[in-house]
Amino acid sequence: MNPPVTLPAARPTPSIQLVPAKTGLTLIWPDGLQSFYHYAWLRDCCDCDLCGNSYSSKRYLQPADVPLDSLPETACFDSEGYLQIAWKEEDHVSRFDSDWLRRYSYHDGIREQRFHRPVTWDAQIVENLPSVEYRYASTSDQGRLELYRKLRDFGFVVVTSGPPRDNGYQRVAQLVGTIAESAYGQVFDLTPQSKITTLGNTMLPVPPHTDEAYRHNPPGINILHCVRPAETAGESVLVDGFRLGEQLRRDQPEVFELLCRQPQPFHRIDPENHLHQQTRAPVFVLDELSEIVGFRFHTRSAAPLDVPSDRFLKIYSGNRALSQMMLSPEYQARFRLEAGDAVLFDNHRVMHARLGFHDRKRKLRICNVSREQFHENLRLTANKLGYPDEARQILAAGVCG
Ligand SMILES: [Fe+2]
Ligand SMILES: [Zn+2]
Repeated sequence: MNPPVTLPAARPTPSIQLVPAKTGLTLIWPDGLQSFYHYAWLRDCCDCDLCGNSYSSKRYLQPADVPLDSLPETACFDSEGYLQIAWKEEDHVSRFDSDWLRRYSYHDGIREQRFHRPVTWDAQIVENLPSVEYRYASTSDQGRLELYRKLRDFGFVVVTSGPPRDNGYQRVAQLVGTIAESAYGQVFDLTPQSKITTLGNTMLPVPPHTDEAYRHNPPGINILHCVRPAETAGESVLVDGFRLGEQLRRDQPEVFELLCRQPQPFHRIDPENHLHQQTRAPVFVLDELSEIVGFRFHTRSAAPLDVPSDRFLKIYSGNRALSQMMLSPEYQARFRLEAGDAVLFDNHRVMHARLGFHDRKRKLRICNVSREQFHENLRLTANKLGYPDEARQILAAGVCG
């Protein structure tokens, strides 16, 4: 095989045992681990010149070309350490690098380790806020990887001592990707001096929410950059939606399960400004192992609950429980951003809010970068710095599943 990542040169691997069976073969690795591969899977993965390869999308082999009962004529490790299979009823030979086989094993237990799992948190996280200095993150790959890891694990990271200028948000956003459009344009000013009159442009507190829950695909990584903090108060607040989900799952499992299954309506309607956005989506998204990978919750844009009548009370009790938790100081990470600081957070997991203030000069700016770009930059950097397994981890898919 010729995967796109640089692998060590193939070496003889006499210590890998090969045990053929009816539908596939088992490899027993030197460390005792066993992994099974269906013959049809191996045939499908052939990346010879005739079959092409999926890394470049120049793949000529179709699933329709691969019989479910594909069988080898012979299967053995060759002198260069490749697993070589000559296929029955086909004049075709496939070769597989052993490192590649180990890396792509889909054996139970091995594949589960590939799923990244977040570190959930509550108010106490402020005692040790995930943070990275702007200078470190912007001048070294190690610094960027540290930023990416914290954002991946905790769903947020504070970037400290960045440019305290009006366009500082651009410099911070560049660390994760290209600025994307939101329902409010590329950048939105959160200041009472703005002519726009959302709740964010007042001096009132803003309750926790994920942004733009009324869009099929809400903004991904939000970047909230502080140009000028309020003299006092106006602290930023974050709440871990995944932690609330874990708690709800323990307290009311049946209700939690309904919130994962039953779509709820969200909307933003303002005909005068030519706006009519709406979607229906569940509050939590689970992955195939039933772990939470996406969260959307925006009480201010929740439309009248359009759910089956016999589910209403349960769904609403779930919404109430979430709303109680998000408003409780126990779950709120409250901290102050100074001029030049920014907080990056995953809008498909973490809710944001702010406390009220009295200083009209406070100015924060918000923009966003897609989650795909963040994940891609994380993978590229991890690979570059020698962490290929980290680069291949399965990351939370977000609210789009
Ligand atoms: Fe917001
Ligand atoms: Zn082939």
